[in-house]
Amino acid sequence: MSEFDQLYREVILDHYKNPRGHGLIEDADAEAEGENPLCGDEVTIYVAFRDDGDTIDEVKFSGRGCAISQAATSMLTEMVKGRSAMQVATLPREELLDEIGIPLTPVRLKCALLGLSTLKLALHKAKGTPLPDEWSGMADELDLK
Ligand code: FES
Repeated sequence: MSEFDQLYREVILDHYKNPRGHGLIEDADAEAEGENPLCGDEVTIYVAFRDDGDTIDEVKFSGRGCAISQAATSMLTEMVKGRSAMQVATLPREELLDEIGIPLTPVRLKCALLGLSTLKLALHKAKGTPLPDEWSGMADELDLK
């Protein structure tokens, strides 16, 4: 393993062990649940907007899952603060995958995208933002509600 991969792994492990944004938001402005049916892991995402009703003030998550799903969701909560609902709805998944930094198998990819897909669904439900183009594929593979 290269030094670079090792570094990414340490960052992932740190997010897993000390997740940012873990918890819930009472009376959240947007909320959704996602499940990865391959393993049964679930995540619930809560969003609070700023006074303008559109800029993301805070994102929190609860649930359980593997290191990749939890670390990716933890990273996500830091990435999206201060962005508009539309910016996050159209955030390319590559941006999150770059942050994760290590190559992922197709099975691991679902783990990594569980939080992002659930967040996009929460925004869609609350604000009517569009769901991503690749959604049709992901929605079948992840159980989102
Ligand atoms: Fe369940 Fe990764 S193994 S989300």
